[in-house]
Amino acid sequence: MSKRALTILVLSLATVLSASLPFGAFADESQIRLEPYKNFEKDWKLVTVRFRKDTGELRFTYANPVAWKHMTARLAGKTKDPYPKGAVFAKTGIATGEDASFPSSAVPGGVRRFQLMIRDEKKFAHTDGWGYALYTEDGKMAPGDAKQAALACAACHKIVPERDFVFSVPMAGLAPKSSLLSLPASKNWSFRDMEAKALPGNVSQHLPVGSQSVRVLEGEITRHVFEGTLDEVRPLLSREASRAGKPAMLLSQDAKRFSLVFAKPEAGKSLIKDAKPCAPGEAIFLAVAGAVDGGEQAVKDTVKVLQFCYKGE
Ligand code: HEC
Repeated sequence: MSKRALTILVLSLATVLSASLPFGAFADESQIRLEPYKNFEKDWKLVTVRFRKDTGELRFTYANPVAWKHMTARLAGKTKDPYPKGAVFAKTGIATGEDASFPSSAVPGGVRRFQLMIRDEKKFAHTDGWGYALYTEDGKMAPGDAKQAALACAACHKIVPERDFVFSVPMAGLAPKSSLLSLPASKNWSFRDMEAKALPGNVSQHLPVGSQSVRVLEGEITRHVFEGTLDEVRPLLSREASRAGKPAMLLSQDAKRFSLVFAKPEAGKSLIKDAKPCAPGEAIFLAVAGAVDGGEQAVKDTVKVLQFCYKGE
């Protein structure tokens, strides 16, 4: 056998091997460090800012030069190619606090967490070519199974395949509003009716009294649900609950976690003493999320209830 033929044989063997290995072989999300990108707020382009009314969190999304160049070219219709290797998006979530000297204007109250999306089609083929990682305030990898978290991140980002799984679009210029709320109906998710009594474990006990059925989210997103999903999915559920006039929920496919949103019965009455009233046109909504009990006890987190004001579309 010639030397060249041997090289080809070795190369194809490597390809066969890598294809048959489980996807973790070349990508270990727990190894994605924030360190190389730590100056992103100074050095990269600020793509957009978001504010989550329900959690009071400000979000800033930045693009590195490779990601920014490609994003603007895509939006200008100059290319439909996927993002190139080396494109990175970083996002910070910052809690807001009150400015004592001017309470109606909220101020950033410290960094809460960081998220990264790193493009490498081969390494992260199992999550649509993006490596996802989440960090705590001190820049350390968030606790928990990094691979499972990445699958959960990708499951939600699958909502926007036409944008190559990137939600954000630049604040000014070419872009339409970027929002889960303004997304056109996507093939990746839909809602269907489910009878309240068919819900597993204790879930139906969280529904408003007299609820016959709920709108249940279907799609890839229900396959990989981590704690963050329960929170991130709330805007989508709020919109559906408001549109359908009944509770909307995400139930993970393994029936271990749920996130539920509905307009509060006796709409005027706040659960929170001395809460600020909702603005005109808004209603009080409740979000209940956590572990389904009665099933396997693998997920140990508790059920959290949140009240917020929501204005339907
Ligand atoms: C349930 C949906 C959902 C989940 C789960 C989710 N994201 Fe996102 N992500 C969004 C939405 C919506 C945006 C844009 C709006 C915003 O920033 O609030 C976004 C924006 C981002 C951005 C900025 C680039 C972009 O796509 O706009 C990064 C980086 C990011 N997410 C990383 C992550 C990581 C890492 C995880 C998992 C730890 C994760 N996301 C989980 C919905 C989700």
